[in-house]
Amino acid sequence: MPRPLIAGNWKMHKTIAETIEFVQGLKRRFPKDDGRDILIAPSFTSLHAAAKEAKGTHINIAAQNIYWQEQGAFTGEISAQMVIEAGCHFAIIGHSERRRIFREGDREINLKLQAALKAGLKPIFCIGEDLNEREAGIAFQVIEGQLKQGLQELSVDDIGQVTVAYEPVWAIGTGRNATPDQAEEMHSFIRAKLAAMVKMGERTELRILYGGSVSPANIKGLMSQPDIDGVLVGGASLDLDSFTELIRF
Ligand code: PGA
Repeated sequence: MPRPLIAGNWKMHKTIAETIEFVQGLKRRFPKDDGRDILIAPSFTSLHAAAKEAKGTHINIAAQNIYWQEQGAFTGEISAQMVIEAGCHFAIIGHSERRRIFREGDREINLKLQAALKAGLKPIFCIGEDLNEREAGIAFQVIEGQLKQGLQELSVDDIGQVTVAYEPVWAIGTGRNATPDQAEEMHSFIRAKLAAMVKMGERTELRILYGGSVSPANIKGLMSQPDIDGVLVGGASLDLDSFTELIRF
């Protein structure tokens, strides 16, 4: 079993000063490795400060997005190499807010995954169906399509570097999380599809995270499922006390 990964996606929250304060607090509360992988994804402007503060600890820093080109006339965009130099080892790719608000499609997400891997960043690849798709009974087809299109042209070794985050859109920021059984059903489906892609046994070392209204109150039930290897948390990761509770689930 892989180590559990507790990841905080801060979205457009926290200034540099607030980020530093949070990481200092986290270091005080988790001075040593206690078997949990901790990750935070601050805003681009806070990445360097976060990485500097987290250096030498077991706190990992992720970017929330990258652009897939290496450089060029792409106003407002940030490359994989830029976030690596800022101190990141991970990048969230294809978050549903990127897909929905910023119109990112599966092909662009696939190019971003390729760019991240080529540069040496470990991607956290987000997939998830929306409420209409779930109610129409096509959630599994949607997830399979996102997986196939997102991971196309990636080598088996590259797929092995990916962490998948299953985040049903209807559960993000709504306070309505998937039940542990609903999440497990989808996670085991995803694991089987990934295992077929990487031609490994049923149990791959790939981590599959659940995201969508995860809180200290529901994390235990989710993490007790065999195919849930960690969580990607938005709202409940912003407060040091609740993030601490999540890590100690
Ligand atoms: P939430 O966000 O925990 O606030 O629902 C999760 C996410 O968007 O990654």
